[in-house]
Amino acid sequence: MNPAGYSEQRMICLFSLISLLMIPVIFSQEWSVQYLNMKKCALKDSTINLSGSYKHPDRLTVTEIFWTVNPNKGEEPVNLLNHPDYSGRVQFLQKDQTLILSLSNVKHEDEAQYCIRILTDIKKERYFGYPGIELNVTELRVEIPEEVVEGESPVLFCKTTCDLSDKTDFTWYKNSKRVSESIGSNQLLLRSVSSDDTGNYSCAVRDQKHLSSPALTLSVRYPPKSVSVSISASGEIVEGDSVTLSCSSDSNPPALIFSWFKENQTSAVGSGQSFIISSFNSSHSGRYYCEAQNQHGSQRSASVSVSVKESSSSLIRVTVGITAAVVLTSVILLVFIGLLIRRKRATPSEEQKHGGSGHNKTLESPEDAYMSLEPKSRCAEYDTLDNMKRSCENTDDPEAQDPIYYNSDD
Ligand SMILES: *[C@@H]1O[C@H](CO)[C@@H](O)[C@H](O)[C@H]1NC(C)=O
Ligand SMILES: *[C@@H]1O[C@H](CO)[C@@H](O)[C@H](O)[C@H]1NC(C)=O
Ligand SMILES: *[C@@H]1O[C@H](CO)[C@@H](O)[C@H](O)[C@H]1NC(C)=O
Ligand SMILES: *[C@@H]1O[C@H](CO)[C@@H](O)[C@H](O)[C@H]1NC(C)=O
Ligand SMILES: *[C@@H]1O[C@H](CO)[C@@H](O)[C@H](O)[C@H]1NC(C)=O
Repeated sequence: MNPAGYSEQRMICLFSLISLLMIPVIFSQEWSVQYLNMKKCALKDSTINLSGSYKHPDRLTVTEIFWTVNPNKGEEPVNLLNHPDYSGRVQFLQKDQTLILSLSNVKHEDEAQYCIRILTDIKKERYFGYPGIELNVTELRVEIPEEVVEGESPVLFCKTTCDLSDKTDFTWYKNSKRVSESIGSNQLLLRSVSSDDTGNYSCAVRDQKHLSSPALTLSVRYPPKSVSVSISASGEIVEGDSVTLSCSSDSNPPALIFSWFKENQTSAVGSGQSFIISSFNSSHSGRYYCEAQNQHGSQRSASVSVSVKESSSSLIRVTVGITAAVVLTSVILLVFIGLLIRRKRATPSEEQKHGGSGHNKTLESPEDAYMSLEPKSRCAEYDTLDNMKRSCENTDDPEAQDPIYYNSDD
């Protein structure tokens, strides 16, 4: 029983004693209003029920019963249904001796004390259920440790400024997708986090997604990984080129320290995300790698080979040169063969004189000259043009005549 109710009842009691003989059973029943909870914590924008049960003396007829807000002393309380600040958001639901106040779209301004007022057919016989229910309005808020490093197991909290109830279940969302339920607890434990756990987290009271907290970003920090080197030159490097090597890595926070190394050199050859060789020469050739570092660690890349290569234009030059040499050699060869044949044709009488056979058919055409030349014959032993010339000239020497050659048709 609340004090206000008690004092009014005491007055009635006093009055009853005075008029005891006149009305013998006047206080057969007492006034009372009992609230389900004296404190209520509500989520902003939600709909809540405040519940109060009442009793009144039998002899009285209740003419009006309503919920009111923050009653002022000496002022008649205002029915919440007629309160401008609550217009369209209030409903009274009566069930037996219980009156429920249903308040929708709860706002922060609704934080106040709510009481039941009962009026009867006898103007002075009225009752005020004071003190009433204290309403606090809260919003959900995710609390995430300031810094979470890969491998740690952080706990996320879904916080409110008042206790919703002893055992509230919370639902967790990551990037708006439901990830977990915390039964009877406002905590979410993430075991041994990795970069995959990075995301925007929000929470709600058991599946009330429309009333979820604002999302907060969990950004898992990790040392550089996937460190790699890229070379600026699109084609092949030619001496004198400017060559830029760039180091890229995946890390959180982004790596800010980069070191460049040349394989088999103990000290770094450069620093910074890019390493520039302004005029490349052969002394720069080698295998290079970079190392990326942030406050959580460092990692090095695989090494890449950087060296001068034959450019396609110089390859063409070489090809053209070789072709020219081949053509020139062929021309010289043909010219020489031509000269040789001419010479053979110009001396048939000499051959007839010395050979005695009178057969010169074999030398009538260049083809014949080669066909008839036995590989073993001196003339055919031409490993060089000079030798060939010499050995064939030698066959003109009478002393060096080869009987097989001159008597082949015999
Ligand atoms: C409020 O009470 C009414 C009647 O008991 C019920 O139908 C409704 O679901 C309740 N609303 C809330 C938000 O508890
Ligand atoms: C809770 O609400 C009451 C009014 O109902 C207010 O006086 C009190 O300051 C609120 N408490 C908090 C912690 O906001
Ligand atoms: C998380 O929220 C931030 C802004 O708060 C936004 O830029 C980002 O895209 C969000 N990430 C995802 C995965 O939704
Ligand atoms: C670097 O040294 C290793 C052995 O220590 C050797 O196998 C490798 O060929 C060297 N590389 C260069 C570019 O000198
Ligand atoms: C290559 O360039 C470096 C300067 O980058 C220079 O010191 C070196 O003498 C050059 N080497 C040759 C072979 O040209």
